[in-house]
Amino acid sequence: MRRGAKPQNDPVTQIRPIETLILSAFVGILWASTVRCSTQFWGVSSAMATVSHSSALTDYLTAAAPEDIDSGVVAYLANLSEVAKVAPGVAASIVLELADQRSNLKLIASENYCSLATQLAMGNLLTDKYAEGYPGHRFYAGCDNVDTVEAYAVEQACKLFGCDHAYVQPHSGADANLIAYWAILMTRVQGPALDALESTNPSALSPEDWNRLRAKVGSQRLMGMDYSSGGHLTHGYRHNVSAQMFECFTYGVDRKTGRLDYDALEAQAREVKPLIFLAGYSAYPRAIDFERLRAIADAVSAVFMVDMAHFAGLVAGGVFEGKHNPIPYAHVVTSTTHKTLRGPRGGLVLCTEEFAEMVNKGCPLVIGGPLPHIMAAKAIALTEANRPEFADYSRRVQSNAAALAEACMSEGLVVATNGTDNHLFLVDVTPSGITGRQAESALRECGVTLNRNSLPYDANGPWYTSGLRLGTPAATTLGMGESEMSEIAGILKAVLSHTKPTTIESGENAGKTSQAKYTIDPGAQSEALERVGALLKRYPVYPELDLSMLQRSFG
Ligand SMILES: Cc1ncc(COP(=O)(O)O)c(C=O)c1O
Repeated sequence: MRRGAKPQNDPVTQIRPIETLILSAFVGILWASTVRCSTQFWGVSSAMATVSHSSALTDYLTAAAPEDIDSGVVAYLANLSEVAKVAPGVAASIVLELADQRSNLKLIASENYCSLATQLAMGNLLTDKYAEGYPGHRFYAGCDNVDTVEAYAVEQACKLFGCDHAYVQPHSGADANLIAYWAILMTRVQGPALDALESTNPSALSPEDWNRLRAKVGSQRLMGMDYSSGGHLTHGYRHNVSAQMFECFTYGVDRKTGRLDYDALEAQAREVKPLIFLAGYSAYPRAIDFERLRAIADAVSAVFMVDMAHFAGLVAGGVFEGKHNPIPYAHVVTSTTHKTLRGPRGGLVLCTEEFAEMVNKGCPLVIGGPLPHIMAAKAIALTEANRPEFADYSRRVQSNAAALAEACMSEGLVVATNGTDNHLFLVDVTPSGITGRQAESALRECGVTLNRNSLPYDANGPWYTSGLRLGTPAATTLGMGESEMSEIAGILKAVLSHTKPTTIESGENAGKTSQAKYTIDPGAQSEALERVGALLKRYPVYPELDLSMLQRSFG
């Protein structure tokens, strides 16, 4: 989010002078009254704490020329001042996290930097409100304003994705998947079973009928992508509740190509005949042919569900079009809102009219009360994603990923499937003689934050792994482009080729090569740190925030 490096009107950095002036005057008054109110209301603010922490805000307001006052900075400082009055350590950790993210290059494919507007929409009294139900149909009084916020977020989601129905309450991607599963089970299995019993109300069934119904709902089949081929835990992994809910069948990628084999998938689906045929991934670098998958689902009368948690931003921005856009083909689509979509941490479900009634019953099916403050932040992020500059952003996410993968291969690194169609790709680190775990830790010591990841059919298992997963959503938000991708590939290569596993010295494995411990050549480490530092100096995260001032005031 380097100012000047981003297109005009980018919501992440845009400042509007008139609004800023009005807001700064308002915040000044509000700040003065908040100091008094908070002391009276909760009785937690000591006079000393108020003076020292709030001075950051006063210092900023007095030092900046009125036309330079940034409403985001004012709000951020006011927020930290309030937090510090109660728990200075929490405010200090928030500032330390900013310092960490300023000095480490984030290549975690599932993370991003949301706008200050998105962050600030979460910090308010909407969090105090219970609003079980959905807009216009609540189990609590006084939900008019939550109704407005939620209905607006739903409208923005439908506009963005061009879908029939959206549900924006899921607290996370995992919740969204659970809601989708239960909505499908209720619609396709429980509903018809209740009809057969000439009942509409499960609570009115006899214990015997209820147990028969439960057994029926609990014996359905789910077919999703295998965790080790890039699928998610919630897609039927045995350590996740999804594997207890369904009889699960998983499909992998082709051993040779690393890609989905649609013919093999069709043959498997015809054999399994799942209730839910699920597509979507956490670590698959290629576009998916959703048209073909829908045809397979139809051939076996399955509900076609897509978890686009990772690539929702590429759908929103139009990178995935035609058969690569899941919306026209899937019955139900789930997503997170915090990855490529660049919103707050959370989830959503999109669906056709058939499933809308049950999806809207996410509470009581799975969740309790929604998080209205997070729905407000989703509303902001979805509005931002509906702007033309988001399409430009998502195109750059994809072109940067392709450029980074290409540059890694030019450096001699091994990239799974020889490239990427989306925002992420996998690097096999075993040619460097190390595990994914060693590579992840060594890179972190050199200022690069990413995560180790299993490669398909990984001999090192899911803990040590043989791979790294790299993604470009965050670096692209910072404004980086293709030349920075080639610099990053150079840094990655230098670190990986100067990291060596150590030999285990004692115990039953003495003499063996460690899968966890390693050494990095000190010269290579300091050079990498210098190169990362130089890169991040040009592309600081949240550049409007003065880190030294924050550290002086809250550190
Ligand atoms: C494909 C997929 N689905 C679901 C999730 C779960 O999202 P959350 O961590 O918000 O529960 C993830 C998270 O990484 C994911 O990659």
